Amino acid sequence: MRRAMPTDVVTMDKIVSLSKRRGFVFPSSEIYGGLGSSYDYGHYGVLLKNNIKNQWWRAMLQERDDIVALDSAIIQHPRTWEASGHVAGFTDPLVDCRTCKLRFREDHLAQSACGRKPSKHPGETPECDLTEARDFNLMFQTTVGPVAEEGSTVYLRPETAQGIFLNFKNYLQFSRKKPPFGIAQIGKSFRNEITTGNFIFRTREFEQMEMEFFVPPPDAPQWHQHWLAERMKWWTSLGLRPDHLQLRPHDADELSHYSSATSDVEYLFPIGWSELEGIANRGDFDLTQHAKFSNQKLEYVDTATGDRYVPHVIEPAAGVDRAMLAFLVDAYDEDEIEGEQRTVLRLHPVLAPVKVAVLPLVRKDGQPELAREIYQDLRERVQAEYDEGGAIGRRYRRQDEIGTPWAVTIDHQSLEDRTVTLRDRDSLTQVRIAIEDLADEIGNRLRHPWRSPKLDG
Ligand code: GAP
Repeated sequence: MRRAMPTDVVTMDKIVSLSKRRGFVFPSSEIYGGLGSSYDYGHYGVLLKNNIKNQWWRAMLQERDDIVALDSAIIQHPRTWEASGHVAGFTDPLVDCRTCKLRFREDHLAQSACGRKPSKHPGETPECDLTEARDFNLMFQTTVGPVAEEGSTVYLRPETAQGIFLNFKNYLQFSRKKPPFGIAQIGKSFRNEITTGNFIFRTREFEQMEMEFFVPPPDAPQWHQHWLAERMKWWTSLGLRPDHLQLRPHDADELSHYSSATSDVEYLFPIGWSELEGIANRGDFDLTQHAKFSNQKLEYVDTATGDRYVPHVIEPAAGVDRAMLAFLVDAYDEDEIEGEQRTVLRLHPVLAPVKVAVLPLVRKDGQPELAREIYQDLRERVQAEYDEGGAIGRRYRRQDEIGTPWAVTIDHQSLEDRTVTLRDRDSLTQVRIAIEDLADEIGNRLRHPWRSPKLDG
C-alpha cells in the first residue's frame, strides 16, 4: 500500500469543521442563531472528554494513594468568594467605545479590532471614542430563593478549587489523611469572559480538573517541582508531542493574588503557545482566608507531637475542554492512500472515542451475522462500533476521522476458518487473526506504550 508522509497540516478551521462534521462539538443553540462561545459536545466529543477525565482520575486516584476525590456544589455560600478574593479581585479592566458601542479588554486592545474599521485597533481611528478603563467582575451572578433581595445573591463558581478548601476540615476527619495529601475534583466552572473565540479554547462555561495538594510548609517548593514533572509526564504519556509542550514560569507581575510561584504547561496550538494547565504554589492563602471568614480552625494537628500548622497548597489546575482541543490538534493529520486524500485523528488509543470498528465486507453471505457476534463480544470489553453500510473504503475513512485505532473486517474467508483482518489506523497494516484471539489482542495493544506517528513523520 502506497502512503504519503504525514505533515503537520492542522489549522483551527479544520478542527472546527471536523468536530462538527463528525459529531465531536457543535456550536450551542444553533437553531436560534447560536450563543457566542457556547458549545455542545456530541457523541464522540462526550466519549473523548470522558476518556481524558478517566485518565486524569486514574493518575490522581488509582496510581497513587495520597489523593482522594470530591464533587462539590457549583453554587456555594457567597462568603466563599469574598474570602477567596474573587469578589474584589477577579476582574478584567474594560473600556467602552462610545462610537461603535463595543467593549474591549484594556490589556487586549493591541489584539482587538475596531468595530468600524476592523483593520485598525480600538482607539486608532479619529472616530474612536474610548472611555476610561473600569473593572468588570468575571463571576456570573444569580439569586437563590423566590425573590431577588439583599442577601440572595450567589455566584456560579469560577473555579472548582474553592469547594476543596471548604471541605478541608471534613477530609481531615473522615479520610485519615495527613499532609502531604491531595483532594481532586472535576467539574464545571463559569466565567463571564470578555475575550472569547478560538473555538473551545476559552468559553464562558468550561470543565476543570483541579487538585489541591496540602503539604507541610517547608516542603512546598519541592512538592511544586514534583507536580510540574508529574503533570508534564501525564500530557506526554497521552501522546502530546514533547516538542509541542513547554513549561513557562510566570513573571512576578503575572502571578495571581494567591500565588508565590506558578508555571503554566503550554501547548503549541495553531493560535500559538497557550496555557493548558497552571501549576501554582498557593501557600496558605486559601485556608487562612477561609479560617478568617468562617471563624473555623483550618489547620492540621499532629496528635502524636501536638504540632499544629496551616498546610501550604500546590495546585495543578487543567481545563478539560482545552485538553480536548490540544489532543485533537495534536492528532489531526492528512495523508494519501492510493491517490486518495485521507483525514485521520492519530489519537492515543486510550483516548480514542471508539477503540474498534467491526465491519462486514459485504452485507450478505452470513458476514453481517458473524460480524454482529464479534461486535457483541468486543463491546463487553471496549467501546466498539458496528457498521455495515456503504463501501468498505468509506467506512474505514469515517473511522479514521474519529480516530478509531483498529478495524476488524469480516470477509468470505472468516466464515470458512473463523479468522478476520485487523487493520491499524496509523500503519495501515492488516493482519489476519483468529476470532477467538481478537479481544486479547486489542487488550494487549491498548496496554502497550504509544508514541505519536507524527513524531516520525
Ligand atoms: N484554580 C486555579 C485556576 O482556576 P486558571 O489558570 O484560571 O486557574 C485553570 O484555570 C485551567 O482552566 C486553565 O489552564 C485552562 O485550561 C482552564 N480554563 C480557564 N479558563 C477557561 C475558559 N474560559 N475556557 C476554557 N478553559 C479555561
